[in-house]
Amino acid sequence: MQSTDDYRLSHLERGRSYDATLAETPFDAYMAAWERQHLARIVGRLFPAGVGRYLDFACGTGRVTSVVAPLARESVGVDISPSMLEAARGKLPATTFHQCDLTRTALELGQFDLITAFRFFGNAQDDLRENVLRALVARLAPGGRLVINSHRNPRALYSLLNRLTGGDGGGMDLHLSKLRALLRRHGLKIDELLPIGAWMYRARLLGTIDPDHTTAVAREQRFGHPLLASIAPDVIVVASLA
Ligand SMILES: C[S@@+](CC[C@H](N)C(=O)[O-])C[C@H]1O[C@@H](n2cnc3c(N)ncnc32)[C@H](O)[C@@H]1O
Repeated sequence: MQSTDDYRLSHLERGRSYDATLAETPFDAYMAAWERQHLARIVGRLFPAGVGRYLDFACGTGRVTSVVAPLARESVGVDISPSMLEAARGKLPATTFHQCDLTRTALELGQFDLITAFRFFGNAQDDLRENVLRALVARLAPGGRLVINSHRNPRALYSLLNRLTGGDGGGMDLHLSKLRALLRRHGLKIDELLPIGAWMYRARLLGTIDPDHTTAVAREQRFGHPLLASIAPDVIVVASLA
């Protein structure tokens, strides 16, 4: 996105259409399916006795909240968009939701053992990324984990090929080195990287495959090595305080 745009305003009216749009866009649906699978596995492994306090930042319609909330004693979702939150509240009555911009309001929430933020950092402008990380780090309990994704990698193979053949790159700027530096500036270290879709080298392949199909499963396993995270369109990052 352009640096003059404020990502805060992007989803104010999208609550009724967000889930359907994601499901109907094959590549987004593919990434979303793998994000859910990976996330459920990561949380089960990192918190075998269940998560204590869980925060989903930029929770939107509760897509990611709904994966983790059943594994947590207490779950909280925060988003700036009333329409997105309305959808989330309808799905998750046991989760507490707040309409809030944590970068501008000092909402007293306490600290969390696990914080997630999905489909946020790849879209947000630089200053918002910085301010959000500051707000999240302040709410991360000692020993807590931050699990985020970056789903608009300008150095993904398909994106590089697209630009070589005249595409404009769609304003994507958050490559893995930039994300690493961002996390480091906020005192976070990366514990784990889980690339998604690293095998997709041509735009034509994006989303042409059912995420549950055995071919997709085999490809995700074969191309799921952390070293491929820098060329994957989507990556899940597990981070903690350094
Ligand atoms: C693409 S949606 C992602 C929703 C959800 N995390 C998911 O993965 O499906 C991005 C969300 O970020 C929210 N958002 C943007 N700026 C925000 C801010 N400063 N504070 C809280 N939420 C914000 C938007 O309202 C939107 O719901």
